Amino acid sequence: MAPKKRPTDMEALAAGGADLSNASLRDLYLDLLIKILANTIYGDPAFGIFMHPAVTPDNMAEFGAAYREVGLDWPSAAHTMVGVRRLQNLRDLAQRAIDDGIPGDFIEAGVWRGGCCILLRGVLKANAIADRKVYVADSFSGLPPPDPAFEPDRGHDYSKNEQLAVSADQVRENFARYGLLDDQVVFVEGLFQETLPHLDAGPFALMRLDADLYAVVQHPCVPPAPRSRTRPCGRGWH
Ligand SMILES: C[S@@+](CC[C@H](N)C(=O)[O-])C[C@H]1O[C@@H](n2cnc3c(N)ncnc32)[C@H](O)[C@@H]1O
Repeated sequence: MAPKKRPTDMEALAAGGADLSNASLRDLYLDLLIKILANTIYGDPAFGIFMHPAVTPDNMAEFGAAYREVGLDWPSAAHTMVGVRRLQNLRDLAQRAIDDGIPGDFIEAGVWRGGCCILLRGVLKANAIADRKVYVADSFSGLPPPDPAFEPDRGHDYSKNEQLAVSADQVRENFARYGLLDDQVVFVEGLFQETLPHLDAGPFALMRLDADLYAVVQHPCVPPAPRSRTRPCGRGWH
């Protein structure tokens, strides 16, 4: 009889059965997850570089590790545009919430292809945490037109940008590719202004807002629950 194949660490981890008491195994998994989410492994070209808006999908830029590191390019294939450093920061904050025993779920509002939320689900998995959820909130159809009442948003109309409209099914598929789609992942579909004020969830230990437009940050639904703790961090809010 052929010997039974022993699951690899990664297979055991995906199935929730790895020995996660080993912090270095956890960190190896999360380090690798960040590299894959930001796709620094294969280095996909960019649709654009934020500092060089002349670069378009018809005129794609070669992969630039320095841009991807700090989230200054718009990846054509990677599952997040936030860059490596923000991913590391998000992973550190999630780990701190766990280590410090801050109760609550995690939420990102503005997920695009889902990379940050996939990382948060990976942090829970790597810590064998089964009683926290990751809320994945987005219109899943891109940005609304800017509200003229908000001066900082004038001239920033991304509503016709098809690259920003990633469907919920596509984001679910992205989670599934990492083996991280399960009932600890909750999709909240619709405009934040309509969904978040009525969200029956929380408290949140960690919130990340990444919506591009200033109007969203000003909306009374942010933070959506007074029990939450938020902190501005770079482009997003944690
Ligand atoms: C910059 S992208 C988010 C990037 C993402 N966090 C990542 O890891 O790559 C902005 C996202 O916010 C969403 N969005 C912006 N304004 C919104 C609103 N008012 N309601 C719902 N979704 C919104 C867009 O659909 C888009 O997916």
